[in-house]
Amino acid sequence: TKQKLWGGRFTGKTDPLMHAFNQSLKYDQRMHAADICGSIAYAKSLTLVGILNKDEENKIIAGLKEVGKEWEDGKFEIKEDDEDIHTANERRLSELIGPLGGKLHTGRSRNDQVATDMRLWLLNEVRDVEDGLKGLIRVMVERADKEKDYLMPGYTHLQRGQPIRWSHLLLSHAFSFRSDLERLQQLIPRISVLPLGSGALAGNPFVVDRDFLAKELGFQSVSENSLWGVGDRDFIVEFLMWGSLAMTHLSRLAEDLIIYSTAEFGFVTLSDAYSTGSSMMPQKKNPDSLELLRGKSGRIFGNMAGFLMTLKGLPSTYNKDLQEDKEPLFDAVDNISASFKIAEGVIATLEVHGEKMRQALTMDVLATDLADYLVRKGIPFRETHHISGRAVALAESRKCQLNELTLEDFKRLNEKFSNDIHDIFDFEASVERRQSIGGPSRKMVDRQISVLRAALEN
Ligand code: ARG
Repeated sequence: TKQKLWGGRFTGKTDPLMHAFNQSLKYDQRMHAADICGSIAYAKSLTLVGILNKDEENKIIAGLKEVGKEWEDGKFEIKEDDEDIHTANERRLSELIGPLGGKLHTGRSRNDQVATDMRLWLLNEVRDVEDGLKGLIRVMVERADKEKDYLMPGYTHLQRGQPIRWSHLLLSHAFSFRSDLERLQQLIPRISVLPLGSGALAGNPFVVDRDFLAKELGFQSVSENSLWGVGDRDFIVEFLMWGSLAMTHLSRLAEDLIIYSTAEFGFVTLSDAYSTGSSMMPQKKNPDSLELLRGKSGRIFGNMAGFLMTLKGLPSTYNKDLQEDKEPLFDAVDNISASFKIAEGVIATLEVHGEKMRQALTMDVLATDLADYLVRKGIPFRETHHISGRAVALAESRKCQLNELTLEDFKRLNEKFSNDIHDIFDFEASVERRQSIGGPSRKMVDRQISVLRAALEN
């Protein structure tokens, strides 16, 4: 049988279960392109320091491209002894170009190689994730722009609070996603640090030009400490933390829509495309898309917590525990990307029932406006709050709406009430009074829309 890549000092055979336990190829093969890119750049750097001549470099690069093409075409044949993507690619390279393939790993270790591949792979994925997030924000903004006329109760404690625009609610979620977008963009410089040239741990004795490598591979900077270069996985933790928070935002959006889609609320209807039925109850249309968005937030948080547990207490530099970075990261990237796409589809196809929202606006949500009315007549808010509360109680005891109280009723509560009081009972006017930045008035909703559109340009 063929020797393992590292087999020189071994006389005994690997236990078969251990072999499978150790093998990461089934999941790290998705980094095949990053691994090939890293190797091509490294071959070039070896030529620059005289380890390879130009002819050897060309042969190695041609071989690497061939290996890469085999992966692309689904023709790469995995062999039993291929441990991970790095050993698989090197094994195949040597099959294709002979012993010359064995020169490529000069001064390099899988430790700096894997750290480089992971960063390169993630940088590429982050671009897609960013596009997905922008797509979601975009549909939210477009909807908000079209549905500014819809008024609804804004809730605190899930109790009706004050009237707002539906667009204002939608945009509140979009602003969480805008922060996620900023945070994602801020991660990039810390992912984009090149470890290649750190060797196994103690740096590169052939003095490859690491700035050259960084430039070739598109990294923004070079790791300044080789031990850190091979041992750091903070960029993965940070991505998982980022994902946990972004998914938490999705989860809260999903929860709002789940509640609003109940028959009891009836504010929105989820498209059939994003709902499923019940195997037993024929009438059911369940918001499974939204529930999965809510549910997956727990999973991503779990990936983050789990991987932090893996890192905690590890000694310096590379330890095989670090191979456990891949599955949580890959899983997070896949699920977060899918979640953004699903959320975008849900929002794009949602039916919104403006009239149902309007019906949920009961006059009591104007009690704050009633208190503010008296503030404008010079009474301290603490008193007007109390007076308005008594008006609410009076209407409640009469089983009528707040606006059905007569001017005499109001005057009995405070003599400053006059016949303009009934102007207060206008939801649109209430919303339009809120003209400060951040308010639900039309102008301020428009402002939010332009702020978000500008954010999408970055
Ligand atoms: N498959 C390994 C990983 O994912 C690559 C690095 C292996 N290095 C080593 N010294 N065993 O971490």
